[in-house]
Amino acid sequence: MMYAPLEFSEPEYPRVEYQRRQQFWDPIRLALFTLAIAAIIGIAIGIVTHFVVEDDKSFYYLASFKVTNIKYKEQYAMKTSRAFTERSHQIERMMSKIFRRSAEGRFIKSHVIKLSPDENGVNILMVLMFRYPSTDSAERIKKRIEKILYQNLKTKNLPLTINKPSFRLTPIDSKKMRNLLNSRCGIRMTSSNMPIPPSSSTERIVNGRETAIDGEWPWQASLQLVGSGHQCGASLISNTWLLTAAHCFRKNKDPNQWIVTFGITITPPEVKRNVRKIIVHENYHRDTNENDIALAQLATGVEFSNIVQRVCLPDSSIKLPPKTSVFVTGFGSIVDDGPTQNKLRQARVETISTDVCNRKDVYDGMITPGMLCAGFMDGKVDACKGDSGGPLVYPDNRDIWYLVGIVSWGQSCALPNKPGVYTRVTKYRDWIASKTGF
Ligand code: ARG
Repeated sequence: MMYAPLEFSEPEYPRVEYQRRQQFWDPIRLALFTLAIAAIIGIAIGIVTHFVVEDDKSFYYLASFKVTNIKYKEQYAMKTSRAFTERSHQIERMMSKIFRRSAEGRFIKSHVIKLSPDENGVNILMVLMFRYPSTDSAERIKKRIEKILYQNLKTKNLPLTINKPSFRLTPIDSKKMRNLLNSRCGIRMTSSNMPIPPSSSTERIVNGRETAIDGEWPWQASLQLVGSGHQCGASLISNTWLLTAAHCFRKNKDPNQWIVTFGITITPPEVKRNVRKIIVHENYHRDTNENDIALAQLATGVEFSNIVQRVCLPDSSIKLPPKTSVFVTGFGSIVDDGPTQNKLRQARVETISTDVCNRKDVYDGMITPGMLCAGFMDGKVDACKGDSGGPLVYPDNRDIWYLVGIVSWGQSCALPNKPGVYTRVTKYRDWIASKTGF
């Protein structure tokens, strides 16, 4: 009985609801409702577009100005000199200090191109790189940059005195910017002209990892023997010269039998060239591995790009302390006697002092002054067969990369107490210069 009222009212519900629905969805309400939904969707799309889809574009500027509180030095003419590098780094640090905070995260990078003498100081030429919405204009951004800089000149205590009237800012396109940076070695960029993030892999390129980014190691080349494929790695040091290991040409030094490819895969390659000339070090000794260095000249020069770029040769004065992080790259095998890898691999290793490397339980006196050991005393990470001739590189504090070693030899691969042995490039600066003219 208690359920009776429910039973009784049941038939009435559908009618009531039906009537209400009919009232609610009258044409005006329907129109308003549709409009409101459309508005909400519109706003949502607007917000998403603003934050996500609206693409930022890189804007490049050439900046030139006079600094009056320093004197010009002769060594500034040499871009790999310590004086040039340190001064440039100081200027670049100052620029990021000025723009990092004030330009709302729009500042990407600056790079000193040239230091030249001026009667009362030094003239600086540098590129500045910013990212702003693509709808913005180069001229408007220029005004903003100038304003930020002038404000900083007035209010901040900067280490260098910039002469304000001498300051010139010229918008340049990405091609011009690339050309300016291409006058420099050892710079890495992505295909969209963004700086490549610092490498951090700890993992032959035993226990290395695949190179993920096109252009991460743009100086890496593969030396191939026609008919039998990849034999060795090599490093691009100018638009026509490659530096590699002498032992790569033990079987065959006929330039007509060799080809060179660039890019992070062997097939397909990004760029392919024939070889004109092979120069093997006159005093290479196969029994001791001494002077394991050779040059290969391309039949036609390559055009520098973000994918193909030369590495810097270090000043013969630079010395890396033990345990410095360096990187080795190559298409070599990942296990002793394994096959060549089609995709480039990289590994972070550490420099090991010659004293340690010559210990009885390590290489027992086989390491000569022209060699450099790198790897780990407990093994695990190393170059291996097929990496020979390839680069061992080191980034300076401006993220400019130098060729410090050439993959040369080692007992097996990645064994404890048997690190990789590399040709010490700094010892051969004069030999390289005598053959190539630079
Ligand atoms: N000599 C070998 C080659 O022809 C590779 C040497 C590197 N070995 C090493 N364990 N790091 O490819």
